[in-house]
Amino acid sequence: MNHRPAKISAQALKPILIASGICAINPCFAAGREIETSLSLLIIIAGLLIIQTILIAGLQHSRLKNKAARNLLKSHQKELEQKILERTQSLHQKNNELETAIQSHKIIAAQLQDTKRHLQTMINSVPDILVGVDADGKVTYWNIAAFERTGLSFDKALGTHIITALPHLPLSEDQLEEIIKHQQPFINRQLQQIENEEPRFYDLRIYPLISGQVLSGQTSGAVIQLKDVTKRVQLENMMIQNEKMSSLGELAAGIAHEINNPLGVILHNAQNIIRRTSPELDSNIEVAKKLNLSFTQFTNYLNEREIPQFLENIKAAGERAGKIVSNMLEFSHSNHSEKNWVYIPTLIEQSIEFNRNAGFAEQAKMADVKVITNFSPDFPSVFASAAELQQVFLNLLRNAYQALTSDDYKHPDELRVEISGYTKKSDIVIEISDNGPGMKDNVKDHIFEPFFTTKEVGKGTGLGLSVSYFIITEHHKGKISVSSHYGKGATFKIRLPMSGDRQFSLDI
Ligand SMILES: Nc1ncnc2c1ncn2[C@@H]1O[C@H](COP(=O)(O)OP(=O)(O)O)[C@@H](O)[C@H]1O
Ligand SMILES: [Mg+2]
Repeated sequence: MNHRPAKISAQALKPILIASGICAINPCFAAGREIETSLSLLIIIAGLLIIQTILIAGLQHSRLKNKAARNLLKSHQKELEQKILERTQSLHQKNNELETAIQSHKIIAAQLQDTKRHLQTMINSVPDILVGVDADGKVTYWNIAAFERTGLSFDKALGTHIITALPHLPLSEDQLEEIIKHQQPFINRQLQQIENEEPRFYDLRIYPLISGQVLSGQTSGAVIQLKDVTKRVQLENMMIQNEKMSSLGELAAGIAHEINNPLGVILHNAQNIIRRTSPELDSNIEVAKKLNLSFTQFTNYLNEREIPQFLENIKAAGERAGKIVSNMLEFSHSNHSEKNWVYIPTLIEQSIEFNRNAGFAEQAKMADVKVITNFSPDFPSVFASAAELQQVFLNLLRNAYQALTSDDYKHPDELRVEISGYTKKSDIVIEISDNGPGMKDNVKDHIFEPFFTTKEVGKGTGLGLSVSYFIITEHHKGKISVSSHYGKGATFKIRLPMSGDRQFSLDI
């Protein structure tokens, strides 16, 4: 507030006070002069009053002006405060919106990460080699299978040209360029490659990648898939081989049948010769008499020349050949899946015989193997496929023989295969053990897998036990297991339901 007008009025009063002071000091002035003085005093006072009034009015005016200004200022201030409030509120709102946006952005980013991880896991779970390339053939994606096959890490593969990254790929740069350019998927099946001196087979598929701009048809590269189909090809070959074997089986059955007739004649005639040269038959003596021949001399001559012994040899060999032929006929004639009541001890005898006569490489050494069978007297027949079970026994016996006659272990004094059979509840159990080299755990864990073999090429296919496993578990609802320790032989145990079916699970 301005106080200056009050100051001015104090100054203005000063001469009045001086004048009144002078008047008080000198009371002896004349009356005229007194009047004059009073007049001028009055004038001064009046002047002063006017000045004061003017000053007061000015003061009042300025007060009013001040007030108005203050009011204006206040209203401006209020307006400003309102504006600030509004601004703050809108800023708050904006801030909240921003925070929500950040939050949802974070969620989306996390979801994106999740999706990326999920996709990566999916792609990496595929056992095939999956590689993404751009339009120039440079690697943009490289899965774990690709890393495992090549040893090239994701980081190193990224940006490398596919021909450099996968040098064995049977594909030229131009070919890849053409595929990407024309958007034509490319498939090449069963490509053969030699790896570690063994053939492996691959299916190669290339799918051109369509970029975001689908409409413009712009391609941004391709996905290359390299699938290892070695096992499938091996299986197909095995099936072809199987087919060959079964036609060979039929051929063998035909031959066996044809051999049976002349063999029968040989045996029959040998038997006849034995009978007709025997002194024990009256008719022989009678015929000799009629011809004036001394039968004693004749018998002496035959014995001297060992003729009966030769005849016995012919008979024994003929019978043996007959047994082999009838085994062959039985094996090739029996329907594989047809089930009947089967007496396993007979099947085992046949399998032993079959293995001994099959002409396997280890045949020569097989003579040294002692085979002991031991079946409980009440061993029952089971409802099963004789041909399939025989296949299992043949596989197990052959494995035992091969293990026993292999060169790479110290043989025990006596090579032995023991086969025993007994009943357990409504099942039968057959155990086939050998005192061969046995197996290490890392072998034992895989022996029932298809194509698992520790034998050299030509000796093992790795299918014997997997087929046996399938026959026992799938076709006969039974169980097959192995117990073995390295250096301590192996025992295979088969458990089968007598009735050929079961309603409960079993542990062996
Ligand atoms: N009695 C056994 N003693 C030692 N090892 C065995 C025996 N039987 C099987 N094996 C092992 O199991 C593997 C798989 O056997 P199998 O499936 O019959 O295939 P293959 O005989 O063609 O190798 C064999 O390679 C061998 O290592
Ligand atoms: Mg085998």
